Amino acid sequence: MHIVDLIAKKRDGYPLTKEEIEFIIQGYTKGKIPDYQISALLMAIYFENMNDEESTYLALAMRDSGDSIDLSEIPGIKVDKHSTGGVGDKVTLVLGPLLASLGVKFAKMSGRGLGHTGGTIDKLESIPGYQVVLEAEDFIEQVKKIGIAIVGQSGDVAPADKKLYALRDVTATVECIPLIASSIMSKKLASGADAIVLDVKVGHGAFMKTEADAVKLAKLMVEIGKLAGKKVTALLTGMDEPLGHKIGNALEVYEAIETLNGEGPKDLVDVTVEIGAHLLLDAQIETDFEVAKVKLQEALQNGTAYEKFLELVEAQGGDLDRLDDPSLLLSKNTVEVLSEKEGYVMDINALDIGKAAMRLGAGRETKEDTIDLDVGLDLHKKIGSYVKKGESIATLYVREKGIDEAKSLILNAISIGNQEKHIVLIKQTIK
Ligand code: URA
Repeated sequence: MHIVDLIAKKRDGYPLTKEEIEFIIQGYTKGKIPDYQISALLMAIYFENMNDEESTYLALAMRDSGDSIDLSEIPGIKVDKHSTGGVGDKVTLVLGPLLASLGVKFAKMSGRGLGHTGGTIDKLESIPGYQVVLEAEDFIEQVKKIGIAIVGQSGDVAPADKKLYALRDVTATVECIPLIASSIMSKKLASGADAIVLDVKVGHGAFMKTEADAVKLAKLMVEIGKLAGKKVTALLTGMDEPLGHKIGNALEVYEAIETLNGEGPKDLVDVTVEIGAHLLLDAQIETDFEVAKVKLQEALQNGTAYEKFLELVEAQGGDLDRLDDPSLLLSKNTVEVLSEKEGYVMDINALDIGKAAMRLGAGRETKEDTIDLDVGLDLHKKIGSYVKKGESIATLYVREKGIDEAKSLILNAISIGNQEKHIVLIKQTIK
C-alpha cells in the first residue's frame, strides 16, 4: 500500500477500506508517514467526507493505537458520559456521585480544560488534597469499594488522535464532522465503559453552532458506538447561555456542592437528571425513565448524592474540612459588574462569558498555561431574567489579571431588551 495512492483515492471521492485506514493510522503513529502527507489526506477528508463505516474504522484504529482501560474486574455494567464542551458545564461533578449513590459504577477518566471550556480534573484539583492520579489497580479497587472514581487521563490513550488533532489544529481541518466524531469516540471506546451518554452541546458557547450540525455529529457518534458494540445515546442540549451560574474551577465545585445538596440551578439539574435517567436504565438499575428521574431528584434532595461526593473526595485524598464552607475556596477579591441598561435578558453569548473567565485566569489559552483555581465569575442573570440599570449582573472573583477585559466581555455578551424569552434546554435524544 502506498500513502500517495490513498490520498488520491480520497481526493477523488472514494471510501477508504478498514485495512487502508489501519495502514494510515499505524504508519502515522509510528512516524513512518510524514505530517505533510497526512495534512493532504485530512484536507481531502474535509472536502470529500467519510461514510459511517470509514469513521468507525478510523475511531477503532485510533483507539487501538494506544492503551484501552480494562474495567472487566468491576462487576456490573459500567457507564460513562462525555460532553462536547461548554461553559459552566459541571455535570460530571454532580452526575458521578449521584449515579454512584444509586448503585451505578462510575469509573471516569476526565480531561483538563482548554480555551473557553473547563475540565473536570482542574475543577477537582481546586479541592485541597484531591489526587487526580491513581494507579490502575487503585482506580479499580476504589470503584469496586465505593462505586466511583474520577481521575485524569493516564497511560497512552489514543496517541494517534493526539497527533492527528494537533495536525488538524494547524491545517484548518478541525471543523469536520467525521474527524470530530472519530476523535471523540476513539477515546470513549478506550474508556472501558459498556454504556455511554454523549452530551452534544449546541449554541454559541459550543463546538457545534447549529442544531443541524449537532444532529449530524450526534448521529455519527451513536452509529460509531453501535458498530463498535457499545450502547450509546446522544442528547442535544443547549449552550446558548452558560450552564448554571458559576464559571471557574472552585466556583463550579461550589455550585456542584449546592446542587448535590438539592439547591442547584434548574438547567444544571435538568441536564444532569436527563443524562442520569438514561444511564440508570442502561445500567439496568431502573426500567422506567420517569421513575428513574424521580429517584435521581430524590437523591439530590435527601443528601445521599452529597454523601457519595464526600466519600469520593475522601477516597482521593481531598480535605473534607475545607468543604464545610466551599466559599472559602474562592478568591477573596471580588468585583461587581453593573448593568448599564434595564429590561429582560434576551441573549447571553456563552462563548464570551467563557472568555471572560479565561481572561481572569480560570482557563488556558494553550495547553502549557497555568491557571488560577480560585477565580471566575458568578452570573446572577440568565436568559429571561429582569435586570435594573445599576444592578449587579455578575460577581467576578479575581486576582490582578483581566478585570477590565472580563467586565467588557460580560457587558457585551448580555443583550437586554423588552421581550421575556424562554429557551429549550434539552433539544433532542438520539439513540
Ligand atoms: N474534541 C475532541 O476530542 N476531538 C475533536 O476533534 C473535537 C473535539
